[in-house]
Amino acid sequence: MTMDYVNFIEKIKMKTGIDLSLYKEQQMKRRLTSLYEKHGYKSFLDFYRGIEKDKDLLYAFLDRMTINVSEFYRNAKRWEVLEKKFLPPLLKNKRNLEIWSAACSTGEEPYTIAMILSKFLPLSEIKILATDIDENVLHKAKIGVYHERSLNEVPEEMKKRYFRKDIDYYIINDEIKRTVTFKKHNLLSDPFEQNFDLIVCRNVLIYFTEAAKDTLYYKFSHALKPGGIFFVGSTEQIFNPGKYNLEPADTFFYQKCK
Ligand SMILES: C[S@@+](CC[C@H](N)C(=O)[O-])C[C@H]1O[C@@H](n2cnc3c(N)ncnc32)[C@H](O)[C@@H]1O
Repeated sequence: MTMDYVNFIEKIKMKTGIDLSLYKEQQMKRRLTSLYEKHGYKSFLDFYRGIEKDKDLLYAFLDRMTINVSEFYRNAKRWEVLEKKFLPPLLKNKRNLEIWSAACSTGEEPYTIAMILSKFLPLSEIKILATDIDENVLHKAKIGVYHERSLNEVPEEMKKRYFRKDIDYYIINDEIKRTVTFKKHNLLSDPFEQNFDLIVCRNVLIYFTEAAKDTLYYKFSHALKPGGIFFVGSTEQIFNPGKYNLEPADTFFYQKCK
């Protein structure tokens, strides 16, 4: 690592609490370098000085370091596995499941969970915790207005039941919104709530270093109840799940050992 980047990491950590050293270095540097060059800066140190003076630049930095793309029913086949294979046995034991959508971005993921669960339960009985490090995306998630492209995989019946169309945009129904509580949470530094039946954490672990992932797998496993399900993204299989007291339960699903 260059001293320029090392110093930047230290300064950003002091200012925001975000530890960039836990994100894959080359990827992060590439993203941030293209951002600072676009704004006319020549080094990370220069860029940091800019951030100190200009709040908008700080927001642009935060926006660039967190990749927020999401969509409803992302990798639809996996959601089908959740619905058909894992939810029925979980719901057999109890109706009020504890569910966490970690790194939820603009809300498509927790709202997808709510729609799927609504096939089993009334919406008034569904409670989902959804967290992200980025306040901006949480704000958008709470508003719940989406571009058509993020709804490509939504089944027609769900689209009809839970969205209202307004020209090019889709507005999600308030009853679905009420099932989700959004909170700001940094996976790399904040404590985890416990006792979850289901944790969905997809398409964020790929940005972290191996060491950071290792710590996180322990923490996710610890946060699950025995028999609880951990659902990861479609490039994020865990190579040695047993180390974390998890066992493979289906492609991209792990179950906490009982
Ligand atoms: C590509 S999105 C994934 C959204 C959704 N889970 C999905 O699969 O469609 C990655 C999200 O991770 C969030 N993120 C990045 N670093 C994080 C951290 N340290 N703690 C919590 N969320 C983080 C970003 O803000 C972004 O919203």
